[in-house]
Amino acid sequence: MTADLRIRPEELNDRTAIHALHAAAFGGPAEANLVDGLRRDGDLALSLVAFADEVIGHVAFSPLILAESPDVRAYALAPVAVLPAFQNQGVGAALIEDALQRLADQGADLILVLGEPNYYGDFGFRPEDAQGLRTPYDGPFLQALPLTDKGRDAQGPVAYASAFAELT
Ligand SMILES: CC(C)(COP(=O)(O)OP(=O)(O)OC[C@H]1O[C@@H](n2cnc3c(N)ncnc32)[C@H](O)[C@@H]1OP(=O)(O)O)[C@@H](O)C(=O)NCCC(=O)NCCS
Repeated sequence: MTADLRIRPEELNDRTAIHALHAAAFGGPAEANLVDGLRRDGDLALSLVAFADEVIGHVAFSPLILAESPDVRAYALAPVAVLPAFQNQGVGAALIEDALQRLADQGADLILVLGEPNYYGDFGFRPEDAQGLRTPYDGPFLQALPLTDKGRDAQGPVAYASAFAELT
């Protein structure tokens, strides 16, 4: 683990670094633009940076609308990235664990993520828990982490924040 790592909510001065880190980690601008679009639309429900002298990691969460369970507080985890020079040192895990704790403390019911099950399974995400949901990203990489019974029982169509429609 990187020394002096601090996980904290994003601040105004972090925005350029957050954009640059997603572009570097993903090798293109799509995810960086997604973060900017979510922020523009007021859809960054939670935005945390990993900070160690500079911003070295970032994770974003945005609200999901469940038409058949409108009282379920659900969020998408996307995107998450760590600067290439700092990957595989536990920074991504520290960011995700901190964020999930904050969301649980705030009363979130359900978190969805699209990604590698081997990675997200470590945090409790499971493809099986997403099976009753219908999203634009259905398939083996869609995973859910129910935080409450209400989240576990949620079913039906899921609408993502509008910035996701701009993803290329
Ligand atoms: C994915 C990412 C955020 C993980 O952050 P990190 O700080 O490097 O990861 P951690 O140090 O917490 O965890 C490392 C572990 O995750 C695994 N891992 C990292 N990226 C992975 C990936 N894309 N798929 C599967 N496993 C992955 C590593 O093999 C390692 O496993 P181990 O602990 O069993 O050896 C980071 O590697 C990254 O920014 N990647 C490029 C962007 C990206 O793919 N984001 C996720 C999109 S779903």
